[in-house]
Amino acid sequence: MASIAHLSDVHFGRHDPAVVAAVEEFLFAKRPDLVVISGDFTQRARVAQYELAAQFVERIEQGGLEVIAVPGNHDVPLYDVFRRFARPLNRYKRFIDDELCPWFENDELAVLGINTARSLTIKDGSVSLDQMVKIRESFINVPPEKTRILVTHHPLFAMPLGDEGELTKVANRSMDALTAAADARVDLLLAGHFHRAYSVSAREMVETAGAALVIQAGTATSTRLRGGEQQSFNWIELSKGNVQLQVHRWEEGAFVGGRPTFFAYDGGNWSFAGRNEQEGVPAVPFDERAS
Ligand SMILES: [Fe+2]
Ligand SMILES: [Fe+2]
Repeated sequence: MASIAHLSDVHFGRHDPAVVAAVEEFLFAKRPDLVVISGDFTQRARVAQYELAAQFVERIEQGGLEVIAVPGNHDVPLYDVFRRFARPLNRYKRFIDDELCPWFENDELAVLGINTARSLTIKDGSVSLDQMVKIRESFINVPPEKTRILVTHHPLFAMPLGDEGELTKVANRSMDALTAAADARVDLLLAGHFHRAYSVSAREMVETAGAALVIQAGTATSTRLRGGEQQSFNWIELSKGNVQLQVHRWEEGAFVGGRPTFFAYDGGNWSFAGRNEQEGVPAVPFDERAS
């Protein structure tokens, strides 16, 4: 069994220090195998904001946890036009990670991060043709028993926005990226950007998508909340073909774990496999669940 804490949109500069401290406390209590941070480290890509974000990452790493991260659109300077176009992610590289498309692998997980943040668009993301190749090639030699995970800041598919059937925008070339992810037999697609927690089978959203489970994280620590949604992060426990997802939401001064949701791969698709119905009951230990 592997465990992942999936954080996103930490937005230093518009963060709540009490929430940041609670996230760190949770991480060190639970000690996941991997901390995924899916972009928007800062509010406006300013040096002081990057310094705070870098200190956050450093504290997590110095506590002995592994971190994999990708940049978000807010990590590209917005108003400094020279920097925006000439050196869009220099500060990200300097403060967070030199590698914009990082790789993490252990005995159970193979994780690729892809940078979808671009200078030319203010909010929207994109996947390049080179990155499609990277998605296909990175997973070629990964043994079949490992869970394959692709991390982006911008989601690769449109999510419902409300009751009106309205859908969010997607990263440019997202359909091609989904095809590449299907070819690479990616199991999980992790993303952020919309500050809303959400999970769904990729095929329920896009017919041609592969058998992937899509997990969106809300904003972990930002005070920019959307749709009345509080800060949250995802706690994921998984083995090949089984995922338990628990969203932890900020409620009156503390993170409270929601009801764990189970997903299972049936050989052709990922689907909902149950939920712990009792409010406030901790997650059923993974190994004790009926498969
Ligand atoms: Fe964001
Ligand atoms: Fe974003």
